[in-house]
Amino acid sequence: MLLWRAPLPDSWLPKVRARLGEVLVDHAHLERKAVTTALNLEKYQELYGQVRALNAIAIEELQHFNQVLSLLEERGIPFGQPIRSPWISRMMAAVRKGRREQVIDHLVVCALIEGRSCEKFQILSEGVRDLDPGLADFYASLVESEGNHYATYLIMARHIDEEESRRRLDYFLELDAELIQQPHNLPLLH
Ligand SMILES: [Fe+2]
Ligand SMILES: [Fe+2]
Repeated sequence: MLLWRAPLPDSWLPKVRARLGEVLVDHAHLERKAVTTALNLEKYQELYGQVRALNAIAIEELQHFNQVLSLLEERGIPFGQPIRSPWISRMMAAVRKGRREQVIDHLVVCALIEGRSCEKFQILSEGVRDLDPGLADFYASLVESEGNHYATYLIMARHIDEEESRRRLDYFLELDAELIQQPHNLPLLH
């Protein structure tokens, strides 16, 4: 896993613990968006050779989405409206337009979203165990999968242009470090 340039703020875990039900609804939307993101990447000519790999990610994310829906149902939490994540919005807003620039940036941002998810699920797998052991087990079960998605997206970017991918990874890691230090109070994973 990559080396983040700024740690998660100390306020993150207590905030998630305090609003776990709402965060679980956000998580369901994140998995839903991860499905559509994997499919959307198939629009880029540079990724035509990766359609099956992207389909495989979309299928896995759809399974995660269904798993989160089951967890919501078991806990009597209704599926609700998505809330925009300031971190994801600002990362996505920095994706440059233009085919080759866009596909590389899009892949790097997707990799970092997967990477931060992986890190957060690892923390939650212990961090909510006292509140909800079943949920803690679920988070633990996602760590490997999201870590693989992180690696797959980064490898896809490097396959298109190794040097440009490194340059943009550097750029987006700096942006992540800046944004992560501006915590918000919304009941979101990111
Ligand atoms: Fe997922
Ligand atoms: Fe994922």
